[in-house]
Amino acid sequence: MDAKLVLEGKEFEFPVLVGTENEVGIDFTKLRPRTGAIGLDPGFGNTGSCRSTITFINGEKGILRYRGYPIEEVAEAATFEEVCYLLIFGHLPTRGELETFSDQLTHHSMIHESLKKFFDDFPPTAHPMMILSAMVASLSAFYTRAGETEDVDLNIIRLLAKAKTIAAYSFKRSVGQPFVYPRNDLSYTENFLHMLFAVPAEPYNVSPVMDRVLNLLLILHADHEQNCSTATVRVVGSSQANLFAAVSAGIAALWGPLHGGANQRVIEMLGMIRDDGKDYKKYVGKAKDKDDDFRLMGFGHRVYKNFDPRATILKKAADELLGELGIDDPLLEIAKHLEEIALEDEYFLERKLYPNVDFYSGILYRAMGLPTDMYTVMFALGRLPGWIAQWKEMREDPRARISRPRQIYTGEAQRPYVPLDLRVESRSTEPELVKV
Ligand code: CMC
Repeated sequence: MDAKLVLEGKEFEFPVLVGTENEVGIDFTKLRPRTGAIGLDPGFGNTGSCRSTITFINGEKGILRYRGYPIEEVAEAATFEEVCYLLIFGHLPTRGELETFSDQLTHHSMIHESLKKFFDDFPPTAHPMMILSAMVASLSAFYTRAGETEDVDLNIIRLLAKAKTIAAYSFKRSVGQPFVYPRNDLSYTENFLHMLFAVPAEPYNVSPVMDRVLNLLLILHADHEQNCSTATVRVVGSSQANLFAAVSAGIAALWGPLHGGANQRVIEMLGMIRDDGKDYKKYVGKAKDKDDDFRLMGFGHRVYKNFDPRATILKKAADELLGELGIDDPLLEIAKHLEEIALEDEYFLERKLYPNVDFYSGILYRAMGLPTDMYTVMFALGRLPGWIAQWKEMREDPRARISRPRQIYTGEAQRPYVPLDLRVESRSTEPELVKV
């Protein structure tokens, strides 16, 4: 199958690729060499940047699969460690493979004592996403062979194992508690909970309910094909920057409120609605008003146009966890009510805006006892195996090239340089007087 393009009366044919699930892509790799034109697609909504075997999404039908396995089945039965292995190495681990992998993740959990000292000099108000990004980049100072082929698998283990320690330490730093070292007798998620919530003064037993919910949350965030942060990891990695540098950039991209940072903003928005007398109409109106910057956070998605399967799972999990922990969180009721109102509103229906993964996840993090600015860190920890798998896939792809988009220039045409003496002042250079 070919696609035809007619440009200035000349006809060009381009090959068409069909994916496993019949998704169609026109291969424009030779578009510019053959036609002299480029494709213009701000935000890349119509651009495939790679072939990938990791994650499949059908946004119209609300389907998400990791390496072919439906998210609902994986979320129900797997552990986060299994999902890490699945995404990174391409198959579900055997018992032996999982034991070895888990053992490696445990034994690489500690961070260098010098890296630990870096935490001391961040101001106490530093956002933990900033700390996570800086600390992950700093790992390449300790593992200087991070770009080298023979050390790739070891650095993947190091990154997965140490990121949870860094994330837990950034939480401890923000609440002014002493750091808690990892324990070798605990699983990945148990260890993380232990480092988050244990205090030296008393024994800490990991609650099985919390462990189950944490596994679920991390699994649901584990990969989501070519989203903003994953695309960032691939773009940075395409210059052959090392794994730690590429993932640090991905963390920075995830931090933004339109991406992973939305989970923090959702809880802040729900709190605002509560404090403002639950005036739903006002906030839905603000979200629809094009002159108002306000958006319903946790609503809308570039790919999902019917429902986000992760949000469906999390809404149910929020009910279950709060029930099991005996927590009555008014923000959960507000979230449900807001969802109901929005889903009956023409504006949201027309634009196919539904709750996304970030809409209910914050309610669960809140029930776990985490402060709002840790929510995106939790997302990042979950997304790590996805970033790593995508980075590895790109590195191993013989077709991969350095990422280097083009542009359509709309600035001034060529004009002669104007010497300083001949330039006309277009505005006053006098400093403005401030009236006091
Ligand atoms: N509230 C109100 N209007 C919205 C919203 C919203 N949350 N989301 C999209 N719209 C409107 C938007 O104004 C536009 O309207 P119009 O066609 O009249 O100009 C239309 O819907 C399409 O929106 P868009 O911004 O062109 O869509 P996009 O695909 O570029 O952006 C999005 C997707 C997720 C950034 C956007 O829906 C949004 O800002 N949502 C709120 C932030 C959020 O929840 N982000 C988390 C995303 S899911 C997890 C993740 O991947 O990180």
